[in-house]
Amino acid sequence: MRIHFHGHACFEIEGQEGRILIDPFLTGNSSAIAKPDDFTQLDAILVTHGHHDHLGDAIYLSKRTGAPIIAVAELAAYCQSQGAKTHAMHLGGKHQFPFGLVKLTQALHGSGIEGPNGIIIYGGSPCGFLLQMEGKWLYHAGDTGLFGDMELIGLRHPIDVAMLPIGDNYVMGIEEAVHASQLLRPKVVIPMHYNTFPLIVQDVGEFLRILQRRAPESRGKVLNPGETYEV
Ligand code: NI
Ligand code: MN
Repeated sequence: MRIHFHGHACFEIEGQEGRILIDPFLTGNSSAIAKPDDFTQLDAILVTHGHHDHLGDAIYLSKRTGAPIIAVAELAAYCQSQGAKTHAMHLGGKHQFPFGLVKLTQALHGSGIEGPNGIIIYGGSPCGFLLQMEGKWLYHAGDTGLFGDMELIGLRHPIDVAMLPIGDNYVMGIEEAVHASQLLRPKVVIPMHYNTFPLIVQDVGEFLRILQRRAPESRGKVLNPGETYEV
């Protein structure tokens, strides 16, 4: 299974049974190399919440590829109203798709969709995603602050790769992401949601150093946009 990073919080997971895209913020993402039209075949598009840097090109890509958007019910309803194909789920629920298992976890964040004239449309709860593909467990935390039940997520799922935000201001910073790694106990941590714009610039080398010191069982793996990690 291959994990391609497309910048910010956007990951493409390519397995034997299918190809999925998580939080496809490509248009307007200066760190992304891939463009929406690079994706012609997708099995699903997973969206953690309604903020523009996560919903991104999801609706366009669903219409283009026919892939369903997997999201919490309220966000899925919005996407459906815009012409996308959807599969609604909610926090704590799991579903076996042909490409793998998807389970929604809580995330401490907001989820409004920017509507016309600055009106915010309700997007339901933000979420993270646990994925089981080819016997491996992946965890994309979405946008979130640190929460104690990450320990429960780690106890119940042997996480191979965790994608954790480190950008601070809107989400966990470096210190919190290291603490999250201690609770989740993943084999590998890929930092995300940093350096995309000035407010979330982070020293990723510092993250790796603190991680190695305080969570030595987890290995930090930095992916630059366009790079791939093979699980
Ligand atoms: Ni957000
Ligand atoms: Mn965000």
